[in-house]
Amino acid sequence: MLDTDAAVGLRVVGDEAARIASSQVVPVTGQPFTQAMRVDVREAGSRPWSVLLVTRPNSAVRKGDVLLLSFYVRCAASMTGEMTAGAQLERNSGDWHKVLELPVGARDAWARIDIPGVADLDLAAGESQVSIHLGHQRQTVEIGGLTLTNFGPNGDVKSLPRTRFSYDGRELDAAWRADAARRIDEFRKADLTVRVVDANGAGVPGAAVHVRMKRHAFPFGTAVVVEEILGSEPQNAQYREKLVELFNAAVFENDMKWPALDQPDGPERALRALDWLDSQGIVTRGHVLVWPNFEWNPEWLRALSGDPEKLRTIVGDHVTTTASRFAGRITDWDVLNEPFTNRDFATILGEGEYARWFDLSKSADPSAKRFINDFGILEGNAMDRAHIDHYEQTIRTLIDQGAPLDGIGFQGHFGYLLTSPDVLLKTLDRFAVFGKEMKITELDVNVDDPQLQADYLRDFLTVCFSHRQVTGVTQWGFWAPRHWRPRAALFDADFTPRPAAIAYRDLTFKTWWTDQTLTTDAQGTAVVRGFLGDYEITTPHADA
Ligand code: XIL
Repeated sequence: MLDTDAAVGLRVVGDEAARIASSQVVPVTGQPFTQAMRVDVREAGSRPWSVLLVTRPNSAVRKGDVLLLSFYVRCAASMTGEMTAGAQLERNSGDWHKVLELPVGARDAWARIDIPGVADLDLAAGESQVSIHLGHQRQTVEIGGLTLTNFGPNGDVKSLPRTRFSYDGRELDAAWRADAARRIDEFRKADLTVRVVDANGAGVPGAAVHVRMKRHAFPFGTAVVVEEILGSEPQNAQYREKLVELFNAAVFENDMKWPALDQPDGPERALRALDWLDSQGIVTRGHVLVWPNFEWNPEWLRALSGDPEKLRTIVGDHVTTTASRFAGRITDWDVLNEPFTNRDFATILGEGEYARWFDLSKSADPSAKRFINDFGILEGNAMDRAHIDHYEQTIRTLIDQGAPLDGIGFQGHFGYLLTSPDVLLKTLDRFAVFGKEMKITELDVNVDDPQLQADYLRDFLTVCFSHRQVTGVTQWGFWAPRHWRPRAALFDADFTPRPAAIAYRDLTFKTWWTDQTLTTDAQGTAVVRGFLGDYEITTPHADA
């Protein structure tokens, strides 16, 4: 569809390209191509796609076609010696649906990138484009030898080359691990002293004491679906079994959002599901009071876009009604969700409204902690500077205004650009200065490599568990049929555990679990350093 000279046909576009980027064709020797496109991005764009290279194939793609996008890339200059980009074959308008997609990194040597895949929809001739986002950072990048091949529906996608990604710090002897283990010992464990006494209250020496953890104090949560919790099909029961087995905290993926609560039986069903979660000892976060774009809210709300005062009242009432309805039953509320990308309400009502939503939710349910929540902070190598700066600024403003903000939420929807543990820690530290709780609210690792997914989940959880101020991690679902990114789920449709499920279980129920038999000393006392949580302590000693 595109042959090897296509790189030379790449055009530099994007809304900031004219201001911050320039390009030229340069000669290349010793490679399977003789010319490359060199793009100099003089400063970071406000978004990765503020500067991009595009070219349009002139033939159609059909659903089921096996495709391979390949190119060569090198970093000519950057502040870290590494270039970063996102490459995709996508629809060239509208939803920009991605048919092939891969984040790309390279240093000064030419690196070949291969992105195979099967088209998941039809795109007519002229409806697609290959694009390479370059606005992530100041960098000079060269790209050559770009080809796009369509092998048709009978192609063998498994036999095609594929560039595999990883992350710094994945090695089992990486330096960060020892430090994290030390912090986990300091922040997540305590000394537990057991004294075995006889009927007269005298210590019993040499008694065996079984100290067995029952439940983590740290919330390890997942997004859940009301329909599964209330359903009576065998699969619903299996879903509930897994949920209880693996998690002690939950959040409704969609069922506490305004459109769901706007359904006649929405609130009642959410309350019934909450009853069940309570009965299982599972605590629940509230998501979400205000997601401030019309698209996430009941359709009828849009009609108020021209009537700010009415909109102000209705949104405020929604906060009050919702927080009151679940008062006392929710550990914390995401009061404000994704304010960087969802600006409809702020445009109409002003950003000053944010603090009022926090006040209203506090009045309605003082016992729930109040969180702000956003994506793009920890993800993507923490390189979306505009997003991160904006989050920091929004939090600072809320605090300056005296808004009752208790916690900072980091969604954690990861793709291929997996942020290294060192960068994760640095980014968490940057937000820790606010002195608030910090929670990972929507974790998922959406990569096409189960071992990478498992390793990253293990390391991401380890980083978070080791950070003094992180007070919980919620994964955004666990079962493929009920996951917004099925590939990122822990379990297949038939509940077969994927490597990530096993990694998660090993960490939370083996590595970070205490189950020991001790023997009392001369005074009848035994001590163990255990993970914080609920315990069952038994002694078979006859006199105890
Ligand atoms: C997503 C759900 O997972 C989908 O089922 C739904 O269609 C759209 O919303 N950030 C958020 C979550 O705060 O509420 C979103 O959840 C995912 C991104």
